[in-house]
Amino acid sequence: MDEREGNGEDVVYDRALLLHGAKRNEVLTLEEIRRYGSDSFGDAEYVRIYGMPPAQWYGRGIRLLGRTAVECTRDALADLIGSDIASLAAKMPSTSSFTVIDPFAGSCNTLYWVLRHLVKAEGIAFELDPLVYALSNRNIAFLDQKIELVQGDYQTLLENRNIPADRGVVVFVAPPWGTALDERVGLDLRRTTPPIGEVVSRIGRTFSGQPLLFATQVYEKVNPASLADVRALVDWSELRIYRLNDEGRNHGILLATRGGTP
Ligand SMILES: C[S@@+](CC[C@H](N)C(=O)[O-])C[C@H]1O[C@@H](n2cnc3c(N)ncnc32)[C@H](O)[C@@H]1O
Repeated sequence: MDEREGNGEDVVYDRALLLHGAKRNEVLTLEEIRRYGSDSFGDAEYVRIYGMPPAQWYGRGIRLLGRTAVECTRDALADLIGSDIASLAAKMPSTSSFTVIDPFAGSCNTLYWVLRHLVKAEGIAFELDPLVYALSNRNIAFLDQKIELVQGDYQTLLENRNIPADRGVVVFVAPPWGTALDERVGLDLRRTTPPIGEVVSRIGRTFSGQPLLFATQVYEKVNPASLADVRALVDWSELRIYRLNDEGRNHGILLATRGGTP
């Protein structure tokens, strides 16, 4: 029997089981959340989201699918991302109010942290998967930041969205990485689903008349040619890697602007 099918002591709660295996679309118990943390990162509290350790958020009725536990941006990282986005937004030319969009919402945790740092901004998120959407929509109702979460494909939803021309638009870009991440050679930004360049170009066209700030989640190692392709699409960019002691598995962001440089 494939040990990933079972639920016993010998099963390893790792990325493969939760993202691609039997637990992908299952709501995890608190014990499973903690086990993923300890089996994969040596820390049962690893999946800290919305400012809480697992026992606390689980106790409040918040629930995650296996895939979302892997795909979510945990607090330590989302806090740094939110802080850097807010500092950069403050330097954007002639813009005092912002709409923050997460086209690939998942848990909504990064958007939650961006809104904590970027005060008075409005938050909009899109989620394609109906199961992820249903859980996240329920989860964010418990939070102290207001997020409008809409179900569907980001392309269609964005095209139908009118954002006043005097508002700055901040976009957090973290589509599923799938096979784009090879731990040995790094993350290929051309192979995420959809590719990062496609997302940046599309959103750039949709909001061509207003200042745009992109923050794209990246891995410590990024394919250099794929990074150069994305940088060529924007007016200004800067790569930041956050050293959170993940032993070569650190994440970072590519900050970028269109329609003005900070
Ligand atoms: C890596 S997760 C996002 C993590 C999230 N930003 C966070 O803060 O935890 C990517 C999510 O994007 C969703 N997704 C994939 N393609 C999409 C699309 N075309 N439109 C909207 N959502 C999409 C997936 O179902 C998945 O939940």
